[in-house]
Amino acid sequence: MTITAKPNKWNPEPEIISRAAEIIRAGGLVAFPTETVYGLGADALNPEAVRKIYEAKGRPSDNPLILHVSNVAQVRELVYVNDAAEVLMKTFWPAPLTLVLKAKEIIPSVTRGGLDTAAVRMPNNPIALALIEASRTPIAAPSANLSGRPSPTDFESVSHDMNGKIEMIIDGGDVEVGIESTVIDITDPKKFLMLRPGGMSREVIEETLKARLEVPNSESKKRSPGTRYRHYAPDVPVVIWRRGSRPPTVEADSAAYMGTHEPGFEVREKILFDDTANYARGLFAGFRKFERDECSCIVAQWPEDSSGIGEGLRDRLTRSATSGVMYN
Ligand code: TXA
Ligand code: MG
Repeated sequence: MTITAKPNKWNPEPEIISRAAEIIRAGGLVAFPTETVYGLGADALNPEAVRKIYEAKGRPSDNPLILHVSNVAQVRELVYVNDAAEVLMKTFWPAPLTLVLKAKEIIPSVTRGGLDTAAVRMPNNPIALALIEASRTPIAAPSANLSGRPSPTDFESVSHDMNGKIEMIIDGGDVEVGIESTVIDITDPKKFLMLRPGGMSREVIEETLKARLEVPNSESKKRSPGTRYRHYAPDVPVVIWRRGSRPPTVEADSAAYMGTHEPGFEVREKILFDDTANYARGLFAGFRKFERDECSCIVAQWPEDSSGIGEGLRDRLTRSATSGVMYN
């Protein structure tokens, strides 16, 4: 049995939050909203609880999880905080920005996928922050989807994937960002790495650090399993289309389209977004809708702007087109 509750987003009812926190403290699983995507949470310091996350998602257990915190003091207990981390936390958090730092012993190996580093983030969502606070422990949370499905950006998507598998789902409505957080490795002060572009733009991070975020080489890629491409059988193939290029060969009576501009070719259904930020916000929900509608193919417009959220959106689209509509 999975219980559900819909607290007031800006002033979550304490009864709902403490019910959820009790489940976390007892080693159970609670799906909760963040500003990026919904998370599937467990007590990050309880190895048994963390194992249940991998089980519920059907996710390979070598893929490390993000520890979600509600204050900076909590971070100091978990990882070795350096100058770059101090600046970024102070400037941006709570934000869609995840920092990889050298882990302290207190973090169980299963939470960090056996690595000597760990990822920490303070999510910018009042329900998430209240839950972490009330749980009095960091909450480990990957996206609350079955492994291989698009990340959930609304309650219905979480429920579709997780109902019956976890103790509780907190309904926080639609998320604001729509793609996952930006993950950067700042363990080496001489070389900052962009592990995963996402909700927070590269430009503002680089400006604050006064340094470039470098592309990880193959060695550091090995250290971040989640950034490797995965090969899932696609439910609906995704075709990337650049505006102005030749129309893709698709079946007009069953294909779907999403993007910020009119496709200029025939499709059965389309979603047109006002701008790149809305495209990112609606991407995963759009994938799920077109799957439900049994479209034969999803044509996705290549975002014209690679700055800001455009970089993260391009990344998710590239992965979708390489391996089907799929994530971990
Ligand atoms: O927005 C988000 O980040 C969402 C919400 C729920 O917070 N969470 C999320 O988690 O996307 P997940 O597990 O799907 O992605 C975590 C990413 C993976 O790419 C993983 O490999 C990377 O962070 N990661 C975690 N710990 C790491 C570490 N110690 N070193 C390198 N990469 C790490
Ligand atoms: Mg995920």
